[in-house]
Amino acid sequence: MFDVNDLIGGMRSLLNLTVGEKIVLSFEPGPGLWPVRTDRSQLEASVLNLVTNARDAMPAGGTLSIASRNQTVGDDLALEFGVQAGEYVVVDVTDTGVGMAPDVAAAIFEPFFTTKRAGSGTGLGLSMVFGFVAQSGGVVRVRTAPGEGRRFRCTFRAPSSAWKRLRSRSRRCPATTPQAKPCWQSRTMKVCCASWNASYVN
Ligand SMILES: Nc1ncnc2c1ncn2[C@@H]1O[C@H](COP(=O)(O)OP(=O)(O)OP(=O)(O)O)[C@@H](O)[C@H]1O
Ligand SMILES: [Mg+2]
Repeated sequence: MFDVNDLIGGMRSLLNLTVGEKIVLSFEPGPGLWPVRTDRSQLEASVLNLVTNARDAMPAGGTLSIASRNQTVGDDLALEFGVQAGEYVVVDVTDTGVGMAPDVAAAIFEPFFTTKRAGSGTGLGLSMVFGFVAQSGGVVRVRTAPGEGRRFRCTFRAPSSAWKRLRSRSRRCPATTPQAKPCWQSRTMKVCCASWNASYVN
């Protein structure tokens, strides 16, 4: 079990190097994030692929934001997402890039689908993200339109029995209680409040 905010926070230097100077990258960690049980290195590879894709979609620069939050998925939403009802951690990667035409958006999760020139992309990044998130009991969705940028939303199962156990342990030991963490923004290092909106589900 681990904290997704810690993992993304630990990738900060790598992500800043990846996006370069023209893109403003920000991270808004959701407060009190539930721990997830999944593969750390695959999650890192997924975040890196989503960020690399966003960078490639913004050759002239733009804004790339990563945000996390807890979400309880009820029966209706579970049916719509094709997942079990329960507790989840949501990670959104949103960019202001060129977007995708509907035929491209329909194919992006297929293995070997790429619009990049030969040698620049294998087309395996998003199929890997899709398989990994599904294997973790979650789902990945994308919302996009040409000229509107896009948001990739990865939703990971956060088994409640495990995080409740962790929470009660940290109550017994206040020194380890998770604190609200500041978010970071490339270069300017702005500190801001994490925010989330419970009705923002799709
Ligand atoms: N943020 C994005 N904005 C616009 N198009 C995107 C974005 N993310 C993915 N795509 C499209 O989806 C395609 C598939 O992405 P995917 O990550 O699977 O492969 P790739 O980036 O082309 O290659 P690889 O990840 O293997 O280096 C991309 O070639 C691109 O056309
Ligand atoms: Mg890619």
